[in-house]
Parts: sequence; C-alpha cells; structure tokens
Amino acid sequence: MELNEIKKIAVLGAGQMGAGIAQVAAQAGYSVVLYDIQDAVLERAHGGLKKNFLKLVAKGKMNEQEAEEVMKKIKTASLISELADCDLVVEAIVENLEIKRSLWSQIDQACAPDAIFASNTSSLAITQLASLVSHPERFIGMHFMNPVPYMQLVEIIDGLATDAKTHETVMEIARKMGKTPVEVNDAPGFVANRLLIPMLNEAFFVLHEGVATPEAIDQVMKLGMNHPMGPLALADLIGLDTVLSIMEVLHHDLGDPKYRPCPLLRKYVQAGRLGKKSGLGVYSYEGAK
Ligand SMILES: NC(=O)c1ccc[n+]([C@@H]2O[C@H](COP(=O)([O-])OP(=O)(O)OC[C@H]3O[C@@H](n4cnc5c(N)ncnc54)[C@H](O)[C@@H]3O)[C@@H](O)[C@H]2O)c1
Repeated sequence: MELNEIKKIAVLGAGQMGAGIAQVAAQAGYSVVLYDIQDAVLERAHGGLKKNFLKLVAKGKMNEQEAEEVMKKIKTASLISELADCDLVVEAIVENLEIKRSLWSQIDQACAPDAIFASNTSSLAITQLASLVSHPERFIGMHFMNPVPYMQLVEIIDGLATDAKTHETVMEIARKMGKTPVEVNDAPGFVANRLLIPMLNEAFFVLHEGVATPEAIDQVMKLGMNHPMGPLALADLIGLDTVLSIMEVLHHDLGDPKYRPCPLLRKYVQAGRLGKKSGLGVYSYEGAK
C-alpha cells in the first residue's frame, strides 16, 4: 500500500505503548482503532488520552476544538472483527512470542490481504513474526520509544521478506507522526535494546550485590553520565516484565552468558512488581494503579 492509501490504523494493545502510538497516529490525522483484550485497560487508555490532549491544550499546543477532534479519531475495540477495514496494523501487546503468535494469526484472517502489518516488539525477530502471516512482504518492525508522544526515534526493521514499498510507506508514516525513523537490521534487541537493556540488567546486579542503594545507582548515572533518568527508574518506566523478556531473548538468541537476566529482576517480576504500571517496582508509585 502507498502512503496516501493508508487512512485507518489499528493499534493492538492499549498499554503504555499502544496508547502512545494511538495518540501520535491520531495527531497525524489517521483514524485509529485501539484494541485490547481487557476492557479496563481500554477505559484507562481512553481516560489517559483525554488527559494528555487536555495537557496539550493547557500548554497552548492545540485548542480545545482540535483536542476534541483528535480524540474523536480514536475508537476503542474489544473484538478483532472491528479491525477488518484497517490499512495498517501496529501491534503493541505484551512481549511474549506465543501470545503475539496467536494474535497475528487472527489478525491475518480478519484484515484485508493488502494491509500492512507492523510490530512494536522490543526484541523478537521480525522475520519470525512475519512468518506467521500470509504476506510476510507486508510485515515490518516499527519500534517506538517510551513515552511515545515525547520520544523522537522509531527503529524501522525489515524482515527477510519485507518489500521496498512497505518499507518506504512505513518510513513515511513514522515521519508523518513527527518521528525520525532509523533503519536497523533484524537482530535480537535491534540497536536500542541491544545496548540499553543489558545496562539496565547490570544496574540490577549492582543493586543485588549491595554495591549501592537504588537512589545512589540512579544518581550516579544521572549526575555522572548526564542520563535524564537513572537505569532503575527507567526499568520501572519500561516495565520490569518487558525488561526481563528482552533480556531472555538476548540471552537465548545470542547464546552468550553475559546476557543472563539478574535474579533480582526475575524475582521482582515473579512478585508482580512490574514497575510504574503496577504501582511498585524498584520504587513505589503512590497513586498509580
Ligand atoms: N515499555 C516500553 O518501554 C516499550 C518500548 C518499546 C516497545 N515496547 C514493546 O511494546 C509492546 C507493549 O509493551 P507495553 O509496555 O505497552 O506493555 P503493557 O504491559 O503496558 O501493555 C500490553 C497490553 O497488551 C494487552 N494484551 C495482551 N495480550 C493481548 C491480546 N492477545 N490481544 C490484545 N491485547 C493483548 C494487555 O492487556 C496490555 O494492555 C511489547 O512488545 C514491548 O516489548 C515496550
């Protein structure tokens, strides 16, 4: 599909990434259908999006009428059949191959054969995900950063079969969303997470070994390296389950023991301490869910 044929975008998963992708897609003028299996998540995402647009109004970035119009472009859906007429599907569900596998085969059945499919996966092979659908030439990686509305980068990852038209169309859509697309190859963690996530995992080892408190570890990296956030606060923002899943993919796919996940990270995930989204991770987030 060409850029001008893309009118309606389905976003699968209404968690922190899906909601952000829905926001930038609607702001770029697309009709958006935001899909999730949990109604409560859809409601929360809808409320969060409204708040974000009101914040933009308060900051003078759009007026009230524009905010209302953009909000109207985003519909929520809990049935896959509601996505049938979408031209581009961006998947941002939980980082789990089996769950993604099952959803992609349903999407493949439900959507038009010329629709473009993109995954926001942080680490799973695009070629492998593309093999789950009938037209792997129209499957691509579109890896947004968190929080989506504020971060400039989108990694664009071709699978083995991705065709040039799909690649060019998705590059242009990322630009239309106000982002800077950067082309990277299909390798575990691509570039962003190959570099970032082992650093966050190492921060957990530093904590686990009692080298310093969480606050001290984060301060060292903020004040010493000019990082805007410390690694443990950033891990909490990303979601500790997502950080662990990415480490597991790096460990498994690259086969090097240097990528083993820190036991403390695993323990937090087992305890349900998933970071900011669950209200408790390395730090506690009062008032959060
Ligand atoms: N968190 C980050 O910083 C970040 C950054 C870039 C990419 N990603 C990737 O984006 C994806 C989503 O991450 P997130 O942080 O938004 O996770 P999240 O936990 O906030 O949201 C995941 C959502 O997926 C939904 N879901 C699970 N199974 C589903 C199904 N079968 N059908 C529909 N919805 C389903 C859940 O209900 C949940 O709302 C993952 O692949 C992750 O690796 C995350």
